[in-house]
Amino acid sequence: MSLMVTLCLFGVTLLSAVSQADSRKAVKEELSKPVIRGGIVFKNYCKLCHGERADGIARAAKLYGVANLTIKAADNDYYFKIIRDGGVAVGKSEFMPPWEGELSEEQIRDVVAYLQIATDSKRRGEVVFKTNCILCHGLMADGKGRAARMYDPPPANLTKSDKNDDYKRMIISRGGAAMGRSEFMPVWGDQLSAQEIEDVVAYLRTILVHN
Ligand code: HEC
Ligand code: HEC
Repeated sequence: MSLMVTLCLFGVTLLSAVSQADSRKAVKEELSKPVIRGGIVFKNYCKLCHGERADGIARAAKLYGVANLTIKAADNDYYFKIIRDGGVAVGKSEFMPPWEGELSEEQIRDVVAYLQIATDSKRRGEVVFKTNCILCHGLMADGKGRAARMYDPPPANLTKSDKNDDYKRMIISRGGAAMGRSEFMPVWGDQLSAQEIEDVVAYLRTILVHN
């Protein structure tokens, strides 16, 4: 497991979530997903310049002082074009190499699938959630995780939360006790980055069910 964790940032976290079910088959299926394979391609070929999270924080980024190497959200066509044909083909830096030939068509498709997640706060937040929160809050965020019955009050049904983003940000980073709530809602501020907390709050916004 830890070897895999070093392999791919977003994919693996999903993987560790399924492995709780202790199902080799599920792990195998998860590994064969394009986004996970794409994460591995990204790590091998792109991370050096673009950074592990495609946020431009990377060792080689300094070498290309003029360019901001953050990869912004964009449609698939644009990603395919610049990845296949290189930066010049879209009027960008020649230091973005063309990858056609170097990567297979499948690898290019996979890395595009990965970029769709890596550049979208809500989808990154879904990964944060599924990696860290489902044991208590449940895969569907309905408060019915496997460990839920150990806690009273139970983990909140996050699809029905009446709290605003600020409150969620606070309880996630400081934990339940600091907010006068259950101490079993853990402190995440020391484990998740501010960006990850922002991302998971963005994800929680998308799953609200209004009744
Ligand atoms: C040698 C450094 C380098 C490597 C390696 C590299 N890139 Fe780039 N990439 C660049 C540069 C430089 C740009 C242009 C940035 C600009 O002009 O704004 C760029 C731009 C991009 C863009 C457009 C970003 C945007 O928001 O417009 C995408 C998408 C991209 N690269 C994907 C990839 C992928 C996928 C890989 C790996 C298969 C990769 N890059 C590998 C240097 C690199
Ligand atoms: C060990 C179990 C556990 C884990 C893991 C856990 N929580 Fe909780 N969480 C709780 C409990 C219990 C409550 C309810 C506290 C109360 O009602 O006093 C809660 C409450 C919350 C609330 C308040 C919701 C509301 O409407 O009041 C939010 C938001 C929340 N959790 C988010 C998260 C996120 C995001 C994660 C993962 C990063 C997470 N929790 C992980 C147990 C957990």
